[in-house]
Amino acid sequence: MTKLDRREFILGGAATLAAGASASAALPASKLARRHQGYGAAATLWDLQSDPRLGEAISTYCTQVVPVLELKWPMLRPDAHTFAFERADAILDFAQQNDLTMRGHTLAWYHDIPDWTKRIKDSKGVERAYVDHISTVASYYKDKLTSWDVVNEPIPDNPRDVKDRRDTFWTQHLGDRWIPLAFRTAAAADPYVKLAINEYDIESAKDSFIAKRAAYRNLIMELLDQGVPLHAVGLQSHLHAELEIDTHGLAEFVTEIRSWGLEVFVTELDVDDQKLTGSPLERDAIVAKRVDDLLTAIASSGPVRSVLTWGISDRYSWINGYVKRPDKQPNRPLPLDGEFKPKPFMDVISKFTKDV
Ligand code: XIL
Repeated sequence: MTKLDRREFILGGAATLAAGASASAALPASKLARRHQGYGAAATLWDLQSDPRLGEAISTYCTQVVPVLELKWPMLRPDAHTFAFERADAILDFAQQNDLTMRGHTLAWYHDIPDWTKRIKDSKGVERAYVDHISTVASYYKDKLTSWDVVNEPIPDNPRDVKDRRDTFWTQHLGDRWIPLAFRTAAAADPYVKLAINEYDIESAKDSFIAKRAAYRNLIMELLDQGVPLHAVGLQSHLHAELEIDTHGLAEFVTEIRSWGLEVFVTELDVDDQKLTGSPLERDAIVAKRVDDLLTAIASSGPVRSVLTWGISDRYSWINGYVKRPDKQPNRPLPLDGEFKPKPFMDVISKFTKDV
């Protein structure tokens, strides 16, 4: 296949998927009325192409989308010399055809580093590959994305103290400067896109989460002190239904982050209910309550401008691949059920975001 054929082939599915709901001008008013400003969802191209209901749901409820896999290193970089943008481009086409904005996820992460990268032994070579990747990808999408998760998950679980950082392949070669370097490189490539840092397990009232939040806060403060171009703080919000949200501590954290001039994004919200007993209806109510507590804490110091769930329907959620319920029932982590029917979770999203 020539390059063009390949792109057309990949786009084929997404174009068909978008055909029913083409440009925003053609969207039925009933659909627009259900869109929640700033609400978005993550999706893979595979799922979008294989099930038209998924694209239909995203274009019905959302104003933004983020690729789950297509902008990560392994999918973009089959080898050191190739940048394979076709699959991410297909999601961008879907977004544009449906009047959705797109976020980028993610430029620098300890996870999902391709083998060819890990085989580079000298630190200068690692730095060249790192800067080349961030610079090329951010330049390619210049002016096309609203924000980037530049650095993902920099804090370890159970940090020893507030200075603790995750030990990553990048740290081993570049030291702590892997973080500022990623932001500076991205900012040079795309001066107007918002640059975010992103972290999980900081929302609940559990000692290890509170410690992680304190280390995250400290890192953000250090980056600002160093004049690093950082514009937004992502709370992934992969919530655990059995854990209460630390509403007070989280509200305080968000208030402080905003007082430093940064935006707060909810980037990957879902709620695993593997430890909940009870009927699906009872579980859905607890899941919705956790989301309500999360968004209440965030909304206490300003509007919730950007909230994305990691998927939109329980049918396509990574949670079921990772955590199994003892009763073998699927988890119910997302706003729509497996048949794309809205659950109380979606009501909470609409409570905190304006209708479009
Ligand atoms: C997950 C995807 O959903 C999975 O399909 C993949 O196997 C692993 O990555 N935090 C992140 C996301 O920042 O990139 C992760 O996505 C989920 C946790």
